[in-house]
Amino acid sequence: MILGIETSCDETAAALVTREGDIRANVVASQADLHAAYGGVVPEVASRRHLELVNPVLHEALSEAGATLDDVEAVAVTTRPGLIGALLVGVSAAKALAWSRRLPLIPVDHLHGHVASLYLRPLDLQPPFTCLLASGGHTMLLDVQERGGYRVLGTTLDDAAGEAFDKGARLLGLGYPGGREIDLLAREGDPRAYDFPVARVPGLDFSFSGLKTALLYAVRKLTPEQLAERRADLAASYQHAIVRALVERLEGAERVAVVGGVAANSELRAALPDAALAPLPLCTDNAAMIASAARYVDPIPYPGYLELDARAAA
Ligand code: KG4
Ligand code: ZN
Repeated sequence: MILGIETSCDETAAALVTREGDIRANVVASQADLHAAYGGVVPEVASRRHLELVNPVLHEALSEAGATLDDVEAVAVTTRPGLIGALLVGVSAAKALAWSRRLPLIPVDHLHGHVASLYLRPLDLQPPFTCLLASGGHTMLLDVQERGGYRVLGTTLDDAAGEAFDKGARLLGLGYPGGREIDLLAREGDPRAYDFPVARVPGLDFSFSGLKTALLYAVRKLTPEQLAERRADLAASYQHAIVRALVERLEGAERVAVVGGVAANSELRAALPDAALAPLPLCTDNAAMIASAARYVDPIPYPGYLELDARAAA
């Protein structure tokens, strides 16, 4: 089995995945509650919490799989992109573990990990396909021809789709992370109550900052009482605009897949009945997707990985 470790943002995660792509354990300790008070992830707080959680989460993954380190043939870890201090906790843990067992180490790109959530069983999706990757940090349209990589067709020029959800939720006085909160509230609202603009950018790129500003202006016009009354309509209309912008980019593509935290959105999922959707538990950050991607990356043999570094940028 491959042991995967993910600590790039505010989830401390470990998973065990077989070469064939069967998940034997998938443990995610979310720090969301810890960061909620600040309305977003505080990098230094995240790093400290990863340090506290990484060993217990690793133990739990092994016990969930009924496995020991003897069953692990390689250690995979997210090395980029992400919060540098957070990444370093996972990379250091992975190095220590691999080195002490003389195992190979497999560095994984977090975005490749999100795409590889589609390669796990039972979905086991085969390229080629066009992949929408929409998360808190990234929004990209990818051309996937083989499991080892992808080509970027378009990306966001400003905010990521998940970031738009999170910032919108804050403007509406909802909790963090905002995507799920807006998703739930939107079910009670009218998506046509407000006509929020969907930015039209040339090519295959995305833009969400104008939408966020439109919501800000709409909210500003309301008294607190009016806002309470219209909150569900605002959430529904705002979500509808984000989903439209995402779905529009997939028009004309032959085989479509969607991954990343925003892929959990119920309106987006309903809008794409023919697409391959990452399974719900694998949309937001997890380590099973990291171990899955590792199956298509060259391992670094023992002990050549001690100098391996984490990188904040994609
Ligand atoms: O992939 P992910 O866990 O982390 C990153 O790599 O960024 O994505 C987290 C993002 C957050 O912005 C969160 O608000 C959003 O995914 N999200 C959702 C939903 N669940 C999570 N957005 C819309 N609807 C949801 N149901
Ligand atoms: Zn992610």
